Amino acid sequence: GKPIIPYEEIGAERLSLLVDAFYARVAMHPKLKAIFPDDLSETARKQKQFMTQYLGGPNIYSEEHGHPRLKARHNPFPITPERAQAWLECMSEAMDEIGLTGKFRETFYNRLVMTAHHMVNAPDSEE
Ligand code: HEM
Repeated sequence: GKPIIPYEEIGAERLSLLVDAFYARVAMHPKLKAIFPDDLSETARKQKQFMTQYLGGPNIYSEEHGHPRLKARHNPFPITPERAQAWLECMSEAMDEIGLTGKFRETFYNRLVMTAHHMVNAPDSEE
């Protein structure tokens, strides 16, 4: 059969809905909102570009911003294990909200778990 590109399977429109649903949760999350800007529109725009290429679509993130160097770009922010978990919870709820299910969701989410854990650069605080 013809190869399936994950980006084509989800489509630009649902990917956009997913990212918006995700940042709506990040904006309200007690463990996340402090490290994100108040206005998340530019963050969401970059994340849509990034996830397009992460899912095998056109390299529109790199064309505008250069190589992702995701870990380095997260260095200015304390990414604790708790925050990685919170990020993933927001994503899981966003996937629920847009009705993303099945094998596609499972594979995509599992990749995000690995990437999120890779971003961790600080220990949980003891408070
Ligand atoms: C940017 C937090 C995981 C992709 C950011 C920013 C923060 C952040 C605070 C800066 C926002 C801004 O200034 O606009 C976190 C936390 C994570 C996490 C707490 C928990 C593990 C991830 C993962 C991915 C990702 C798993 C990709 C799958 C991005 C991208 C940007 C970004 C593409 C924009 C980079 C740029 O400025 O060009 N993240 N992030 N992040 N994050 Fe994360």
